[in-house]
Formats: sequence, C-alpha cells, structure tokens
Amino acid sequence: MELAMQRFLTSVALLLCFQGFGFCFPDHDAVPRYSFLRHAAEAPRVSHHDYIIVGGGTAGCPLGATLSERFDVLVLERGGSPYGNPNVSELALFVQNLAYQTPTSPAQRFVSVDGVINARARCLGGGTCINAGFYSRASRQEVEEMGLNLELAEESFRWVEKEVAFRPRLTGWTSAFMSGLLEAGVTPDNGFTYDHLPGTKVGGTTFDQNGHRHTAADLLKYADPARITVLLRATAQRILFRNRGRKHKPEAYGVVYKDEAGNVHEAYLNNSSTGEIILSAGALGSPQLLMLSGVGPAPHLESLGIEVVLDQPLVGRGMSDNPLNAIIVPSPQQIEITSVQVVGIRPDYYVESMTGVNIVAASLAGNSTGPSATSPVQISNSFQGGTIFEKLARPLSQGFLRLRNRDPEENPLVTFNYFMEAEDVQACVEALRTVERVIDSRALSRFRYPNQSVQSLVALSASVLVNLRARNANDSTSLEQYCRDLVMTIWHYHGGCQMRKVVDHDYKVLGVDALRIIDGSTFTFSPGTNPQATVMMLGRYMGVRMLKGHKFH
Ligand SMILES: Cc1cc2nc3c(=O)[nH]c(=O)nc-3n(C[C@H](O)[C@H](O)[C@H](O)COP(=O)(O)OP(=O)(O)OC[C@H]3O[C@@H](n4cnc5c(N)ncnc54)[C@H](O)[C@@H]3O)c2cc1C
Ligand SMILES: *[C@@H]1O[C@H](CO)[C@@H](O)[C@H](O)[C@H]1NC(C)=O
Ligand SMILES: *[C@@H]1O[C@H](CO)[C@@H](O)[C@H](O)[C@H]1NC(C)=O
Ligand SMILES: *[C@@H]1O[C@H](CO)[C@@H](O)[C@H](O)[C@H]1NC(C)=O
Ligand SMILES: *[C@@H]1O[C@H](CO)[C@@H](O)[C@H](O)[C@H]1NC(C)=O
Ligand SMILES: *[C@@H]1O[C@H](CO)[C@@H](O)[C@H](O)[C@H]1NC(C)=O
Ligand SMILES: *[C@@H]1O[C@H](CO)[C@@H](O)[C@H](O)[C@H]1NC(C)=O
Repeated sequence: MELAMQRFLTSVALLLCFQGFGFCFPDHDAVPRYSFLRHAAEAPRVSHHDYIIVGGGTAGCPLGATLSERFDVLVLERGGSPYGNPNVSELALFVQNLAYQTPTSPAQRFVSVDGVINARARCLGGGTCINAGFYSRASRQEVEEMGLNLELAEESFRWVEKEVAFRPRLTGWTSAFMSGLLEAGVTPDNGFTYDHLPGTKVGGTTFDQNGHRHTAADLLKYADPARITVLLRATAQRILFRNRGRKHKPEAYGVVYKDEAGNVHEAYLNNSSTGEIILSAGALGSPQLLMLSGVGPAPHLESLGIEVVLDQPLVGRGMSDNPLNAIIVPSPQQIEITSVQVVGIRPDYYVESMTGVNIVAASLAGNSTGPSATSPVQISNSFQGGTIFEKLARPLSQGFLRLRNRDPEENPLVTFNYFMEAEDVQACVEALRTVERVIDSRALSRFRYPNQSVQSLVALSASVLVNLRARNANDSTSLEQYCRDLVMTIWHYHGGCQMRKVVDHDYKVLGVDALRIIDGSTFTFSPGTNPQATVMMLGRYMGVRMLKGHKFH
C-alpha cells in the first residue's frame, strides 16, 4: 500500500517535472538511484568487461554512460554516492563539505609543495560534487586547439547541459558585480551564455533554482543498466600489463582494486580487440596510477621499488594550477550566499566573485596539518561581504608530480611552481588592477564601507587570507608581492598526462596498448573560464568517438 502511494507520488512529481513546473526531484530520496550502482565489497573477486573505467568523476561518468550503449562497462570509483548527501547537494554547505575531512569524505585535502592548500574529489561525480558549480564552455578556438571536432563537441556540450546546467538567478551582489565589471571596462555585456566570449557574461551553474547541486553522476541516467556496473569505494591499486615480446608494446589487460574492507578484486578485459582500460582519475589520480603501474620516469619508479613497464619521463610533467588571487570586500549589508554566476573575460585572466561561501572560509577549510585529520574545521560566519578574485587564463609556470610512496590512497607530491615565470606576475598585477577598479565602481559602492580604501582592502586581505607560503618580511601589499605571497587556487589544476606527451590525439597512452586517459590530466591549458563543462563534454565526446570506432583526423 505504502509502496503504491510512493509510486503514485513519484509519478505526480515526474509529471510536474516534465510539464516544466521546476518540480523535479523535490527531495533527496526521490533522486534516481541506479540499479547498477553497488559497493565494491559486493562485487565478485574476478570479473570481465569490454571497458574498465578507473574514476567515476567528471569525465568518467559521461564516458561510462555513453560506452554502455553498446558495450559491457565497469566503472571503479574510490568515493561514495553523491545521492542523499546534503553536504554534496546543498550550495549552503559548499564550504563545510570542503572542510569535512575523513578517509571517505567527498573532498580530500592536499597541500602542494608550493604551500597552497587545495582539494581533490573522492565521490561518484568527481569534482562536480565538491566544486563551485560555475558552468562555462571552452571557446571554439580552445576546442580546436584540443584537436576536437566542433560539431561533435557542440552536440556533446548540449547532451551534458540538458541534464546538469542551469541559468542562475542573480543575487543583488552579482548584479552589482556584473555592472562593476562593465564599469571597469570589461565589455561588452554578453548577457547569459554558456559560450566563452570576451567581455562580461552570466554563465551557467550546476546548482538548480532550489540551490540543489547536479553532478556528473546524473549523466549516468543515460547509461544502459543492463551493460554497466558502477562500483563505489573501489580504489584502483594498479593497472596490469602483459608483455607480448619485443615486437609489441606492453598491453593493459586488467585492474586490481580494493573495496572498503581492504579486500582485493580483479577486473579483466574480455579477450576481444575492442576492450580497453580508461583512466579518468583526474589530474592527480591518473599520473599517480600510471606511475604505480610502472609507466613513468624509470629512476623515480625504481627508487620506490616499482617494476618499470615503460620508461616514460613525461608522466607527471606539465602539472599546472591556474593561480587565484582574491580581494575581500567587507560589507555593511546582509548578502545572500552566492556562488560564481558572472565572469569577466579578458585574454589573459578571468574575474569572478563569491559571497557567503567566501574564499577566506574556503581556504581556512583547507587548513589542516595532514591528510589524516578527521575533525571538521569550524568556519566563522561572522564575515559579511564578498570576495572578488581573478584566475590567470594560461600561466606559463609549470611543475611536476612525484609519488610520495606506493600507497594509492595517499596524495602524490605535486609542485605547481606558481609565478616562477615573470610574465605570470605581470598578468596577475594587471588582473588585480581590474579587480580594484571593480571594487571602486559605483555599482558596488552600496556593498562597501565608504571609509575603506581599496588599498586598505588589499592590506586586510593580506592579513586574513590563508596559505602556507613564506611571506615577504617587509610587505606583501605591492601587487607583485601580493600575487606571489597570497596566491591561492581556483582548483583548476590540470596536466600530468598531457596530450602529445603522454597520450596521442585519440587519448591513447603512448608506448602501450589498450589504455587511454580521458580527464583533466591530458589538458595543456584549463579550458573555458572554468573547466568542468569541457571535462564532461570530453567524456561524452570520446564515448561517442569510441562507439563509432572512428580514427581521428
Ligand atoms: C573546490 C573546487 C571548486 C571548483 N569549482 C569549479 C567551478 O565552479 N566550475 C568549474 O568548471 N570547475 C570547478 N572546479 C574544477 C573542476 O571541478 C575539475 O577541474 C574537474 O571536476 C576535474 O575533472 P576530472 O574528471 O579530471 O577529475 P575528477 O572529477 O576529480 O575525477 C576523478 C575521479 O577519480 C576518482 N579516483 C581517483 N583515483 C582513483 C583510484 N585510484 N581508484 C578509483 N577512483 C579514483 C576520484 O575519486 C574522482 O571521482 C572546481 C574544483 C574544486 C575541487
Ligand atoms: C565481455 O564479458 C562480459 C561479461 O562476461 C559480457 O557481458 C560481454 O558481452 C562480453 N563482451 C564481448 C564483446 O564478448
Ligand atoms: C556532512 O558534514 C558534517 C560536517 O560538516 C558531518 O558531521 C556529517 O556527517 C556529513 N554528512 C555526511 C552524510 O557525510
Ligand atoms: C583470454 O585468453 C587467455 C589466453 O589466450 C586465457 O588464458 C584467458 O582465460 C582468456 N580469458 C577469457 C575471459 O576468456
Ligand atoms: C592552521 O591551523 C593551525 C591549527 O589550527 C594554526 O595554528 C595555524 O596558524 C593555521 N595556519 C594558518 C596559515 O592560518
Ligand atoms: C568605518 O566606518 C565604520 C562604521 O561605518 C566603523 O565601524 C569603522 O571603524 C570605520 N573604519 C575605519 C577604518 O575608519
Ligand atoms: C626588506 O627591506 C630591506 C630594506 O629595504 C631590504 O634590504 C630587504 O631585501 C627586504 N627583504 C625582502 C625579503 O624583500
């Protein structure tokens, strides 16, 4: 009886949903739970598949859903489900979710060797479960630079957008911020668009009108339930390669993974020519797993006692994190919690803002002494105001990734070398000057204390923003020094398995067979103002290409 009632209510909700009443999935329990979603502990010890995807993240989910149209697919995700977890789904809990650190929490903190506090995802849906939700496409030029076909990229963006992208309802703060950008000369006004256009625009968001987050996991609704298995708490330990004599490359044929109880499972490819293993474990996870599996710089692997399958010095190179610098604007006004809704696009930098979920709190959320910290950090909500920040579009400074040890659960060591190149400092100074003009705009004046100069806001920001870098002993408030000393992350780190260096144009790993990498680790730049749209698009795009079995170009 109860079940019948529940079904009836669900169908009413669905009806209202399809009628366009904005009434889709009003509570968490009504969110689709997939029949093919299971915990790894319930999986057989050995299984066979056509495709094995490591990482059910931003790229892995759309890729797996697409490949399941024709093939048997296994997705291994080390994290848990985003469904029914308000920490993931509620915008108001964005900062708390980043701060919440346990061995299984959706966000995993890491601190780069540079001393910048950062975060990586551990959740089905990957970065889309813990990010700020801003949705903005790569430019046409960037899509071409990635070697992708414009038409298929367009179709793939649309496929993603009909499920997870929304038009934001602008808050008072963002409307003023948008006018401020235009006053500061970041023109023209391009209105609401997903497209990457010079000037100021309203972008999309993965938070719907009710403030509920949608993630890449929602794209699994396109999967064929008969052909896909998605395992949670399945942590890949290594890829297995077989050697087929001198004339052939080593061939990937299986993945060893552990469930949450620590039991080992093995997944193998069927003996067919189509089968492949695909790494979609992200910019930290994919190079880490390649190295753990014996593909990487031989001396480094040997120093850790890892048997070398392929000496590939470029694995882990080209790690890049677009530096973010922020200025805080305390406000006499009560400001609604606002995630990123508007962006100012200049060739060398992008300007965005947030309130409530402010950058100070977000960076404090990351302040912990180590990866095993289990207690949540208390966030002070006493701060009233907004944060305006800039992201360098294409920093020249690059770094590298190394293994810390042989434990796949541990963060690898990553160095981004922020502002190593002088041009990056110059671009940052120019960007901060624009931020200052926005703060000084007429439009934003009602959100500011009239007696606080921009210069004093820079000094205030320098005193409260958090990273673990050494500061210039004399002064951090010259803009050059501010860029270096107060650098933070916008969490758009990428690289490590770059195109043309570690993978070819088909995203196939050079020097081995039956292995691809499809995620942000292949990027040579961060596409769009914010990358998630392009990462999801790429998952769909490559799935379609692989189904068609097309060669590129
Ligand atoms: C706090 C934060 C805010 C951000 N804000 C925005 C924003 O507003 N807009 C935007 O466009 N972008 C934003 N980003 C960036 C964007 O979310 C990421 O660039 C993108 O999600 C990366 O996608 P990916 O597929 O490369 O990796 P991920 O999405 O991280 O996917 C990798 C997946 O692999 C899994 N994995 C890793 N290792 C293993 C293993 N050994 N075994 C099994 N599974 C494994 C991980 O758990 C994860 O789910 C933000 C990111 C963060 C962290
Ligand atoms: C591969 O193996 C799986 C599981 O045994 C099976 O469902 C699938 O049809 C196989 N694919 C091919 C191409 O043989
Ligand atoms: C959400 O985060 C809080 C800490 O902010 C934590 O106590 C709670 O257990 C988390 N909920 C889930 C479902 O993980
Ligand atoms: C695949 O082929 C190998 C050797 O030819 C054989 O040992 C193995 O059992 C085969 N696996 C499957 C799933 O058929
Ligand atoms: C980080 O937290 C520790 C302990 O709470 C504190 O002592 C330290 O000052 C904090 N670091 C920064 C940079 O704020
Ligand atoms: C600025 O004005 C506010 C009240 O409007 C006051 O509380 C604050 O102390 C003043 N700050 C400075 C630096 O004068
Ligand atoms: C601080 O200022 C002194 C005197 O101007 C200068 O000699 C010194 O190099 C500066 N220190 C740093 C770290 O810039």
